[in-house]
This record gives sequence, C-alpha cells and structure tokens, in this order.
Amino acid sequence: MRLDKAVTLNGMTRSEARKAIAAGRVSVRGGIARDVGMQVEPGDVLVDGRPVEAPRELYIMVNKPAGVLTATEDGRQKCVSDLLPEDLRRRNPGPVGRLDKDVTGLVLMTTDGQLAHRLISPKWKAEKTYLAKCEGRLTEADIETFAHGIILSDFTAKPAMLRILEAGDDASTAQAILTEGKFHQVKRMFAAIGHPLTALSRTRIGCVTLDPTLQPGQCRELTVEEREGLMELCGLKE
Ligand code: URA
Repeated sequence: MRLDKAVTLNGMTRSEARKAIAAGRVSVRGGIARDVGMQVEPGDVLVDGRPVEAPRELYIMVNKPAGVLTATEDGRQKCVSDLLPEDLRRRNPGPVGRLDKDVTGLVLMTTDGQLAHRLISPKWKAEKTYLAKCEGRLTEADIETFAHGIILSDFTAKPAMLRILEAGDDASTAQAILTEGKFHQVKRMFAAIGHPLTALSRTRIGCVTLDPTLQPGQCRELTVEEREGLMELCGLKE
C-alpha cells in the first residue's frame, strides 16, 4: 500500500496524511519516511510514534476465583477486569456472559462485540462445560432428565449433557454441558432434580478450555488457534 494511503488508516484525510509526511511526523520501521508513494505494510507505519492501524481486538481467558464479580467495574467489589494487567485493562475488554460471584473458572474477555454476542446467543450453540459438585447421589435417571430438558418456573432448559464423574450417598461430582446460559441456570437445573450444588466451576467455552497452568486470578491472551476456533464456531472466520 502507498504510504499516504496507509497513514489515512488512522482517520486522517489523504491531504492531512501528505502534510504529516512532509512534516517528518511519519516513520516506517524506525526511519522518517518522506516518499508519499513508497510501498509499505500498514503495520510498519507510525504517525507521531503511534501505529496507524487500529489495535487488534483483544481475546483473553481469565481463571475467575470465587468472590470476584464478572463485570468491568464496581464501586466496592473486585471485578474480573481488576485481574487484568494494566495495558490490557486500559483497552476495555468486556466479559463474555456472566459467572455468578461464587462460581469459579473460565471467563472470556474481549473487545470483539460481535464474537461476544454470538458466544452467548443460543442461536450459535456454543457449548459451555461446567464441573459441578452437588448434594446426594446422581443416577442414570438424572442423566436422562438433563437430556430431555428441565422445566423450570419461568422457562424450559434445553437438553443438556450430564456426565457423572463420582457418585456417593452424600455428594456427587459431574460434568454438565449446556448451549445456553440463563441466570443461575446450572444451579437451578441441579436444584430442580433434587441435587443442590455445593460448588460450580466453568471449564470450557466452545473450543477454549481453561488453561490448567492458570492459577485462580490469573489470565492470558488466547492463542491464534483458540481465537480462530471461536471465530469458526460463530461463523466469523474469513
Ligand atoms: N450457571 C449458574 O448457575 N451460574 C453461573 O455462574 C453459570 C451458570
């Protein structure tokens, strides 16, 4: 791309771009550039030391600890945004959906509104996996009930997959896979089958599994494979 065209990517008109170039405000790979027609990669061009391209979107996974709100700010309580390093937080990524304050595990945060919207929309059926600890012994009948959908007071939860990992007389552990995420949905589904939850954690959203090396409270940017997997799942892959 021509240099003057690349400079317009930051919002300048072509004539403003040419004036900025003539004034020596534009550099390409570290050197002042004065030839308006030189061929450049936009990523190499700075105006007044700042990149001309809009910063790329941010995609982050957070391992949310209990006691933290899934929000960007709150006057008094700690939020998932407070767990991000300052340079990422300043770019204002928002959480994709919500985990209750007492629920732990995977929260995705992004500046990409379209992806966020599709990941929480039932239309795109992005699976979320939860690890649930509940009271009492889970049985095959509970698996069947989940698979048929559960009638709750204000809506019917869509069919979901329940996999029992451990069943004891007093407590059981299971994996639940849902494609929707209404308010307190997993807690309400377990309560409705007579097994109130004692702990809940999210371990997966679509193709993104919570990185086991992330301690509670830690975060990292998604890898290219994770990001592209989500894009593909949501029909956004170019
Ligand atoms: N279901 C719940 O009940 N709570 C959550 O935070 C997420 C899913």
